[in-house]
Amino acid sequence: MTIGIYFATTTGKTEDIAERLHGLLGAAEAPKDISDVDDLNELSTHDGVICGIPTWNTGADSERSGTTWDSILDDIGELNLSGKKVAIFGLGDSSTYTENYCDAMEELHRYFKNAGATMVGYVNKSEYTFDESKSVIGDSFCGLPLDEDSESDMTDSRISKWVDQLKKEISELN
Ligand SMILES: Cc1cc2nc3c(=O)[nH]c(=O)nc-3n(C[C@H](O)[C@H](O)[C@H](O)COP(=O)(O)O)c2cc1C
Repeated sequence: MTIGIYFATTTGKTEDIAERLHGLLGAAEAPKDISDVDDLNELSTHDGVICGIPTWNTGADSERSGTTWDSILDDIGELNLSGKKVAIFGLGDSSTYTENYCDAMEELHRYFKNAGATMVGYVNKSEYTFDESKSVIGDSFCGLPLDEDSESDMTDSRISKWVDQLKKEISELN
């Protein structure tokens, strides 16, 4: 089973988490900045794909991350990722941006879903303190939200629990 980890970042926090996830996952290939990927079909060569996205464009309806992800959303939607498991993690600030916590995850999640991927790695929203997020679907976030600005002391336990969850969900048959 191969797992690819891809991220985009403005101040380095999403990259740092990608490296930490890589360390915990063991089997995954080294994380790659999505800006360095020439052909997005590379994503379909893995059994599982983990994508990290920060939120910078506060309150925006679209292009919420302010990173390379924003300019390749349509291309992602056109990939054929049926049979592939995809999980999203997001970086944000639940204190300062509590009305828009990790909003960008939902946008990336939607385009990967349109590409036929089986989305995994959902996390119950009751484990977080925030007012609003576009990334909440029902009772869950559509991925793993992380807050290195206000809750960095919770990151280690959040990512290790998520990795255990992903190991199960990515190896399950569709
Ligand atoms: C101008 C600005 C706008 C931001 N907007 C949001 C936001 O809308 N929602 C959120 O959850 N975090 C927001 N953040 C927090 C960043 O997403 C957070 O610092 C994140 O860790 C940055 O990740 P990066 O270092 O990978 O770019 C914002 C930060 C700044 C400085």
